Amino acid sequence: MRLLRDTWVKSGHNVGWAAPFASPAPFVYFRAAMASELPEHLQLDARTAVPAELAFLRSEYPRESWDGHPNNGQWCQFWLARHTMFRDFGAGLTDACEKLDAGQVDGPAFHDWFMPRASFYLGELDTHHKVEEYHYFPLLARADPRMETGVALLEGDHHVIHDRLRLVYDGVVALEEAIRKGEGDIATLAPKLRDDLVLLDASLRRHLDDEEDLVVPLILDRGEAGLGMH
Ligand SMILES: [Fe+2]
Ligand SMILES: [Fe+2]
Repeated sequence: MRLLRDTWVKSGHNVGWAAPFASPAPFVYFRAAMASELPEHLQLDARTAVPAELAFLRSEYPRESWDGHPNNGQWCQFWLARHTMFRDFGAGLTDACEKLDAGQVDGPAFHDWFMPRASFYLGELDTHHKVEEYHYFPLLARADPRMETGVALLEGDHHVIHDRLRLVYDGVVALEEAIRKGEGDIATLAPKLRDDLVLLDASLRRHLDDEEDLVVPLILDRGEAGLGMH
């Protein structure tokens, strides 16, 4: 348990309470089918960055210029902090599964530490995507016609990530039950969940980096009020 807690403190997050995984999915997420078909090279698993023609303001506002820019307002800072939090959770939860699999932590200690944080991570990520899709992506698409393909790309990413989030959720529920009831094959469930978390985390990191490259330069260029963000 100490190892898990140390890892978490290092990540700088104190998550607090979140509902444990004792009941069915809290975040069932129904979305309409993706409207546009993106070319293969723009798909989440094929990309190593978002192309310059889509991130059309990236060279004018490189990452080094974001911190302290007068248009990097409260909304942008909060949103970037959420992204950092998701990256930290992905690393921390994966590390916890590795420690369980390696026998460095026992089942009950893992359960107490891991379950509320996994619940928080999956629920917050789902909510984050919904807010982006229903509120912020339309603002971005309206702000500049050149954003349209970028927004379609981000929505396509959400579909892929959501499928992987569901896989992780199912794995968390199975492992939670196995530990709580003392039944089930923890030796199989723990590494499977770790692998699913690694996949989710890798695709989420690609998405977050590309989303930031598309969105932050536009905010710095137009200002949050100019885009209707509040
Ligand atoms: Fe997103
Ligand atoms: Fe996001």
